[in-house]
Amino acid sequence: MGLPSDGDPPATAGGTDNQRRMTNSKQRIFVQRCIAPECRAKYNLDDRLYVCSRCGGLLDIERVEDFASDASSSLRDLWLKRRISADARDRSGVWRFREFLPFDDDIEVVSLEEGNTPLYDAPRSADYCRLPQLKLKHQGCNPTGSFKDTGMTVAVTQARKLGVRTVACASTGNTAASLAAYAARAELLCTIIVPSGQISHAKLAQALDYGAKVLEIDGNFDACMNAVRELAEDESAYLVNSINPFRIEGQKTVAFELAEQFGWRVPDHLVVPGGNLGNSSAFGKGFRELVSSGLVDRAPKITVVQAAGAAPFAHFYADPSQAFVNEEHPKTLASAIKIGAPVSWQKAWRAVTETGGSVLTVTEQEIADAKAMIGRDGIGCEPASATTVAGIRKLVEDGVIKTDESVVAVLTGHLLKDTDYVMKYHSGSLIAPDGSQIQPSSAFIRGQD
Ligand code: F0G
Repeated sequence: MGLPSDGDPPATAGGTDNQRRMTNSKQRIFVQRCIAPECRAKYNLDDRLYVCSRCGGLLDIERVEDFASDASSSLRDLWLKRRISADARDRSGVWRFREFLPFDDDIEVVSLEEGNTPLYDAPRSADYCRLPQLKLKHQGCNPTGSFKDTGMTVAVTQARKLGVRTVACASTGNTAASLAAYAARAELLCTIIVPSGQISHAKLAQALDYGAKVLEIDGNFDACMNAVRELAEDESAYLVNSINPFRIEGQKTVAFELAEQFGWRVPDHLVVPGGNLGNSSAFGKGFRELVSSGLVDRAPKITVVQAAGAAPFAHFYADPSQAFVNEEHPKTLASAIKIGAPVSWQKAWRAVTETGGSVLTVTEQEIADAKAMIGRDGIGCEPASATTVAGIRKLVEDGVIKTDESVVAVLTGHLLKDTDYVMKYHSGSLIAPDGSQIQPSSAFIRGQD
């Protein structure tokens, strides 16, 4: 592992500007860098780190050189052309944008043709939110049914590049399913740690079928996260939770794809669910890079929605003068976001504050009703994803989102990820963590509200 450096480029970043451009080596253009303003230590790309070894801060992958601002139109054309190419990297909605990824062009990618997900019009959900129009970016249409695949293709490609044998993660289910699939493709051993009895059967079934070793522990996701971080400490496993900055690199490309789908304009608001806060961090980074390279002229306001019983980030947003306090006993039926100690909160905070977004909470009943409404659009999603539409409804009601503004909700997981929840909701037997019964609402029938 290399020592951190302060201002100077890392050891592999030597050479003149001309040499750098000619070799076009990403090893020379990108570094890992601590995000803590008082530290900002730099590391080489192949240093096997998850946090800054000097101060413990989160790491970003950072470009040392900016793109020439006149490169943007040729990049847009190139990315569009790749959509009809047969090259494995071009068929991936992540690697299609590889000019912004920290790998050399000859890297052998571990891909399942992730990304390129639909941006749906959702008229019933729009009505429900009292908006003329609402678009849903369905990340549940990825190969393993969740947004995690866009990050995992990059993290597992990095794992193989580093020559590791075992990859590992803690998970509320989707990260586990995704990692298990990509590890299988890469022929790596895979260990996942999940909270016993607290993740959906569908997600567990995926991980088992893809051949992962599944360890269930008594405790919640946060306990699993601590356990896997310990496991990764002695390098017996490579950690690929979203604290790993290579995960964020993959997930940031969804901002590129979305901007492309919007004709290189951006919506006014982008609303995402918040759990461990990797996804909101990734959107923030993606849009920051799009703006700084001249590909779009502004970023959307990034708003994060949490379940009311698992909302440490929303509490911090309500009073940022207080220190961030983890939620010791997070509670929600949206098991994917039942997280009390989100590892990436500082990056997500940057995304929200830089873009002028906000953070709010929604109740179990609101999540369930919004989910059923997304279903009535013929789209569907898992409970965590529906926090977005529930949140948008509230933001419109409060005047934070204006009816003439364009809004995108990111659906993070597929409807079939948690069918127990669906069956219970529609049969009136869904019980919230506080013991109250969640009523199936007539509001999801058009015209009734
Ligand atoms: N939606 C779904 C469907 C998820 O699976 C997750 C996180 C989130 C939203 C929250 O995203 O953590 O980036 O803020 N699932 C992780 C997992 C924690 O283990 O599958 P985040």
